[in-house]
Amino acid sequence: MHALIPFVYLFVLASIPADPRPPALWGTRCAPCHGEAARGDGPAAHLYRPPPRDLVTGRLIYGGDRIGLRRTIRNGLPTGMPAFGEALNEAQIDALADYILHRRAQGVSEEVAWKPPGPMAISQTTTASCVGCHKKQADAWRASRHAMAMGPGVIGQYGELKNADVKRCNECHAPALLESREQTDGVDCVSCHLTPDGLRGLNGRRHIPIPETSGEGAIDPGFRRSDSCLHCHNLPLGTAVDGRPLLDTWREWAASRWLPNGTQCHGCHMPNGDHGFHGAHDPGRVRSAVKVKTLDPVERGDRVSWGFSIGNVGAGHHFPTTATPRAIVTISQTAQGVPLESTHSLWSIGREVEFIDGQWVQHFDTRIPSGAHFASSYEAPRRPNADGVRLELSFFPDWHYTGLFETILSRGLSVIARERIEAGYKNTRSSAFLVERVDRQLAGPNER
Ligand code: HEC
Ligand code: HEC
Ligand code: HEC
Ligand code: HEC
Ligand code: HEC
Ligand code: HEC
Repeated sequence: MHALIPFVYLFVLASIPADPRPPALWGTRCAPCHGEAARGDGPAAHLYRPPPRDLVTGRLIYGGDRIGLRRTIRNGLPTGMPAFGEALNEAQIDALADYILHRRAQGVSEEVAWKPPGPMAISQTTTASCVGCHKKQADAWRASRHAMAMGPGVIGQYGELKNADVKRCNECHAPALLESREQTDGVDCVSCHLTPDGLRGLNGRRHIPIPETSGEGAIDPGFRRSDSCLHCHNLPLGTAVDGRPLLDTWREWAASRWLPNGTQCHGCHMPNGDHGFHGAHDPGRVRSAVKVKTLDPVERGDRVSWGFSIGNVGAGHHFPTTATPRAIVTISQTAQGVPLESTHSLWSIGREVEFIDGQWVQHFDTRIPSGAHFASSYEAPRRPNADGVRLELSFFPDWHYTGLFETILSRGLSVIARERIEAGYKNTRSSAFLVERVDRQLAGPNER
């Protein structure tokens, strides 16, 4: 019996191609979690428990032969590894399985030494030194939320925070300014493009010398992938409120169909390299996220009911992904196109959290995961003069901060802090918009 084992092992080794480089798919589908060299050290590894396996030396508990690997890749694992069976074909899955077998056979000695550069900014080089030559990107960026990430709402809160907390905020809101409290450009060119090794995203090409850097390009395969948004758009697991960090966008994306399909954050938020980063503040973008469906209204006796659903068809994460925005559905009865008073019902789609006695508390979470939908039904006594029903879906990109600023303003504040918070409050109140309106006729009381 035992003599068979080496034979089988040799057979498996022989069926592995001699020197496969990682298949192209490895970078976008597996490397974010398992690492470029399959050692379990991808930039998102810290967001999973148990962590993504070191596929070179780790034990493969769901089956380490070609069949077992193919099964794992096709079906995913309940601990967070996505299923790739729908997005990839058999040949692609085979190539990935073969690459893992090859890496295991090869061992750790010929390891690829490359590591992604971490978040890093060089404070002496500023956005001003890029805009002259890169006008297209600069113009789009100036109108983006990234450019406004040091807005009055953020700065206003700094008055109440300890230095260490301000530094934490700056890591995401103004990385170029880690120690300071001065107003800056927020998430600027430097925040995303510079590392101590030079420019990021150049595919190794040499850039004209930029002060304070070598001018060499850093090869960073993660730059055109969601990996480059991860450290600002996902908080660590240790900060979870009711099981989920307040910023959990990267993980939501990884759990959706978009990671297996290969659509990065960039695919939706930077089409053709657009530096406008349109999101929750852009009505067109928000409309692309949802599909509203309604059933025929039903009149029974003196009651009316109307079923509806809101599907998240176009956001690569929950709709909405953070606790900041809120979508509100209202349904009312109408007479000649005018809503009748006190006939409305209201549904709130979002995540309601509150900071109480030094910690976050979650009140509800009705966000719609990518690919899922929210369904409910309007049920009310029918008004005699009603001839229709109306559904309105409205979106409030800054809902959470409107309430927060109201609370802060009700306290005693320094004149400067009050001015800033009031400016932030005004901005958040003016940003709401209507996403969609649906009107349906009621057949009338004769139909009883
Ligand atoms: C979003 C993160 C994530 C991505 C992307 C991901 N994995 Fe995983 N993977 C995990 C985690 C987490 C585990 C460990 C799960 C556990 O121990 O239950 C794992 C485990 C595995 C295992 C070990 C299974 C076993 O038998 O023990 C294999 C093989 C694997 N992944 C292959 C892949 C391949 C190939 C890809 C790309 C097509 C991929 N993974 C993409 C998170 C990920
Ligand atoms: C003196 C003009 C000049 C300045 C200043 C400058 N660049 Fe460039 N940059 C260029 C040129 C020219 C290219 C090459 C364009 C091409 O290949 O199409 C380039 C290319 C790039 C690319 C890569 C394009 C690619 O194809 O990969 C990035 C990213 C970039 N610059 C970022 C920056 C940033 C960030 C700054 C400020 C810190 C900056 N540049 C300052 C002239 C400049
Ligand atoms: C250095 C940190 C940092 C990085 C890196 C970063 N972001 Fe952001 N992003 C922020 C901050 C902070 C905000 C909130 C700005 C505000 O509204 O004050 C934000 C806001 C956004 C928004 C919201 C727009 C809206 O209308 O609400 C989108 C979309 C976005 N980022 C996409 C991306 C994508 C895509 C990437 C990766 C290519 C990325 N970000 C990388 C920090 C970052
Ligand atoms: C891990 C990165 C990260 C950290 C740390 C962080 N933020 Fe944010 N912040 C974001 C992102 C991303 C958004 C945009 C998404 C949203 O609206 O929630 C945002 C949005 C905001 C907004 C609403 C947009 C605006 O400009 O009015 C405010 C206010 C804000 N953050 C304040 C703070 C303060 C104060 C701190 C420090 C206590 C902080 N943030 C720490 C990433 C971060
Ligand atoms: C939030 C991160 C972020 C910020 C802020 C940012 N960039 Fe970029 N930039 C990227 C990413 C990611 C890419 C690669 C886009 C792609 O090809 O998918 C990129 C691409 C580029 C390119 C290459 C364009 C091309 O078409 O090849 C240039 C040039 C550039 N950026 C300049 C700038 C300048 C100048 C600023 C400041 C005004 C800036 N960027 C701000 C993330 C950022
Ligand atoms: C399939 C397209 C798609 C992908 C992929 C995608 N997004 Fe979005 N994103 C949207 C749409 C549509 C909205 C507007 C609706 C909303 O707010 O959810 C949005 C909104 C946002 C917002 C606004 C704040 C909020 O609470 O909604 C942020 C921040 C954001 N995306 C970041 C990201 C990051 C980071 C990634 C990658 C990890 C990503 N997105 C991937 C489509 C996408």
